[in-house]
Amino acid sequence: MNVLVTGGAGYIGSHAAKLLLTSGHNVTILDTLELGHEQVVTNLRTLPQANEQTLAFCKGSTADRETVTKLLREREVECVMHFAAYALVGESVTDPLKYHRNNTGAAVELLEACDASGVSKFIFSSTCATYGEPSEEFIPIKESTPQHPINPYGNAKLAFEKALMDFRTKREIEGRPFACAMLRYFNVAGSDPDVLIGEDHDPETHLIPIILQAALGKRPGVTIFGTDYPTPDGTCIRDYVHVQDLVSAHATVMNALGDCDLRTYNLGIGKGLSVREIIEAAKQVTGVDFKVSEGERRPGDPPTLYADPSRVRAETDWVPQFTDVNEIIRTAWDWFSAHPDGYAS
Ligand SMILES: NC(=O)c1ccc[n+]([C@@H]2O[C@H](COP(=O)([O-])OP(=O)(O)OC[C@H]3O[C@@H](n4cnc5c(N)ncnc54)[C@H](O)[C@@H]3O)[C@@H](O)[C@H]2O)c1
Repeated sequence: MNVLVTGGAGYIGSHAAKLLLTSGHNVTILDTLELGHEQVVTNLRTLPQANEQTLAFCKGSTADRETVTKLLREREVECVMHFAAYALVGESVTDPLKYHRNNTGAAVELLEACDASGVSKFIFSSTCATYGEPSEEFIPIKESTPQHPINPYGNAKLAFEKALMDFRTKREIEGRPFACAMLRYFNVAGSDPDVLIGEDHDPETHLIPIILQAALGKRPGVTIFGTDYPTPDGTCIRDYVHVQDLVSAHATVMNALGDCDLRTYNLGIGKGLSVREIIEAAKQVTGVDFKVSEGERRPGDPPTLYADPSRVRAETDWVPQFTDVNEIIRTAWDWFSAHPDGYAS
């Protein structure tokens, strides 16, 4: 299939691009490179499957409807995997319109471009942040859990979910089938086991990379924000899904999508791990006893969030391979220890 991967020079999009390319699909990456890395494209070009037909890169924004329409037509794109977005929750609070403009507005422009070309499938990177702070009765979180985001990042993602659903309905009414999937990710972690690509965010806000940077001596230590939560060890519990498993779910869903399908899946392992458990696992994997300190709770951090992934497991062939957190951390450690300064090293 011919697939456009928006945000394909970023963390998750690059892993999707690699998987698609190595599974025989033709990939077009669209990325502004504002947060992504050109080195991703250079590294992907070293794969034996990569050539001018199978891998193309366009530096640009999903907001540029004209250019994107031209690109979709030229590359005869059939499916869009839409990863491009801003994803810093704190920044979304201080600059909400930046998030609404890019994560909703620019994504709507992308849909307009899809409408003007031959795209018939669309897979959207949504997030468990659209659920906000579900009460205990909703844990583990099912797709039917009410969506009440508590920050502009979650609001903008939810707004685009709605735009996508409305667009799909319009196309069905017109008799021009358009299928879409909204994949709500939990905490994505780990790196490509071949260490060709990896995670390189600046600023880094995700727990596992922060811990590994501390293990590398690039940070003075790790702070646990809140040790008095109503959880067995007092720290927050989250669901960690390996990036390789996450992107394989995209490929599985892409293949499963029928004409006018609308699918919504939670992508997590279905198991919660506390911050302390992650820290202990990272100490074991790295063999480094880095400094850990305890700080105050951060506003908007719910005690426990983990997925009920039974719907995606029942309706598709997706089987996550990384269910042991040590293995997830090991792949991340392989990347970070080989690239302590990310793609710059
Ligand atoms: N990382 C996680 O744990 C996580 C969890 C839930 C959801 N998500 C979602 O997954 C997606 C990918 O996340 P990531 O961690 O890979 O982020 P990332 O920042 O590594 O990658 C995003 C990429 O999109 C590009 N980009 C941003 N806006 C663009 C635009 N308008 N047009 C073209 N390119 C643009 C950036 O340059 C960057 O390369 C995001 O939509 C994010 O909201 C991530």
